[in-house]
Amino acid sequence: MSVIVVTGTDTDVGKTVFAAALTVALGAHYWKPVQAGLEDGSDASTVVRLGVPAERVLPEAYRLTTPCSPHRAAEIDRVTIDPARLALPAVDGPLVVEGAGGVLVPVTRTLLYADLFARWQAPVVLVARTALGTINHSLLSIEALRTRGVPILGVAFSGEAVEDSEATIAAIAGVRRLGRLPRLDPLTPETLATAFAANFRLEDFR
Ligand SMILES: Nc1ncnc2c1ncn2[C@@H]1O[C@H](COP(=O)(O)OP(=O)(O)OP(=O)(O)O)[C@@H](O)[C@H]1O
Ligand SMILES: [Mg+2]
Repeated sequence: MSVIVVTGTDTDVGKTVFAAALTVALGAHYWKPVQAGLEDGSDASTVVRLGVPAERVLPEAYRLTTPCSPHRAAEIDRVTIDPARLALPAVDGPLVVEGAGGVLVPVTRTLLYADLFARWQAPVVLVARTALGTINHSLLSIEALRTRGVPILGVAFSGEAVEDSEATIAAIAGVRRLGRLPRLDPLTPETLATAFAANFRLEDFR
């Protein structure tokens, strides 16, 4: 089984949109282990809207109501997150897994997402904005992943082209620049698949 973990420099950077495009392109399954903020909808339903067949979306291990960090959302719902339930599920073919927020978001009060990624030992794609601030956020995220021994596949950018920022992150961190998804308007399964095919090389993810 080949697993790719999609994380990001922050919440709302475009992880779900990128993960949906990657899942479709690879013919993969998609899994969001912990969904917080159900009152605002779920990433699993978003990827289906963006073209992932519903039968290839695995159920979340935890579905939490409040839109905040999973450790707190669980406490509010009076749920205890058991890391043993966050082991990677076995599926036929590739699996794309989406984290929540950024790499040092707490899953529980004693486990960060980056720690979970280290347990999984699956290659991670860091989704980063191209907008101002991204060099700092990207380099910090990569340092945190490396400190924990998490394998990094590369950075996928989201937003309008900012050549120097994209090149600078790749050069200073010594990571692969996988490509960039531009802002799509409208954002549909068709425009997303076309943009992914035009801006990423599928071989990089196999
Ligand atoms: N390439 C894009 N074109 C158009 N809209 C986009 C694109 N990427 C992201 N968006 C929009 O930006 C918002 C945030 O994107 P997304 O939900 O993918 O972020 P996220 O990093 O997964 O957030 P979370 O931390 O909540 O999981 C959404 O409204 C999404 O539709
Ligand atoms: Mg998301």
